[in-house]
Amino acid sequence: MIYTTGVVPAISAVLQALCKEGDKVVILSPSYNCFFSSIRNSRCVASESELLQKDNHFEIDWNDLEQRMQTARFFLLCNPHNPTGRFWTADELKRMARMAEKYGVFVISDEIHCEFAFEGQHYTPYTTVAEGDNYCVCTSCSKAFNVAGLQMANIFCPSETLLQKVDKQINVVEICDVNPFGPVAMEAAYSEDGWEWLQELMQYIEGNYRYLKERIRTEMPMLEVTEMEGTYLAWVNCKALLHGGISDSEKLEQDIAEKTGVLFNGGLLYGESGHNYIRINMACPRATLEKALSGLKNYTARV
Ligand SMILES: Cc1ncc(COP(=O)(O)O)c(C=O)c1O
Repeated sequence: MIYTTGVVPAISAVLQALCKEGDKVVILSPSYNCFFSSIRNSRCVASESELLQKDNHFEIDWNDLEQRMQTARFFLLCNPHNPTGRFWTADELKRMARMAEKYGVFVISDEIHCEFAFEGQHYTPYTTVAEGDNYCVCTSCSKAFNVAGLQMANIFCPSETLLQKVDKQINVVEICDVNPFGPVAMEAAYSEDGWEWLQELMQYIEGNYRYLKERIRTEMPMLEVTEMEGTYLAWVNCKALLHGGISDSEKLEQDIAEKTGVLFNGGLLYGESGHNYIRINMACPRATLEKALSGLKNYTARV
């Protein structure tokens, strides 16, 4: 395991340590926006496997994923998945791992949201399903414990050879020295006190999700909230609000902001498949979420 200054720098460093220009990197789309920039900045090419939507829930298109793996060198996995809130099951992850092994694809698993499982849901680390040692896993306590400002992340490598390659690249791009407060914060976060705090946090966030779902169901029934298993980012289908000049979620984001003063994330930021969606960050006090949803409600009443 090695430290570095963030999960995005870690992903870029791993790619850059191992890739050739033009290598294809499979991602599941919609996808966390920095995956696109990390792939681009590493002079690789994103190959987006679009998730299938079934009953307000997202699933992998296995045929499409397999086809893409056949010509790719990397699979950049978001486990759990931002922005759809999927906690991939052990079976799903095993199937991905088997495919990656079959086609010689290197897997980078970003597990930064791993602590945010809703009650009854389960996080499966990629390390527990991996086949062979053609992978690495990136984690950080920065999301769950809100210490992103301390710039601290971990890269787990299953072999010494890989660790040395990644370590070299981390030194080349000068992201090997972390803020000295980072490791101290990480130790505190992963101690028992941190665990108790996290349980309370998760109850609060899940309460926010239930609150959001109920308000949208009763007050804005034209919108659809994705069924999530965890994370703090709600993925909401707003197709019913698109019309004329407001033809995609980027324009919708701007229009809602102008008319109500509330800024959501337009789904296009996460790839073409986010065309109809907005992403709502629920890691905030309930009062903030209440205000944001009242703004959204006022907006829907005007359309
Ligand atoms: C899936 C995912 N990975 C990485 C990051 C950012 O990580 P870092 O700040 O450690 O670079 C985020 C932040 O939103 C994220 O959602």
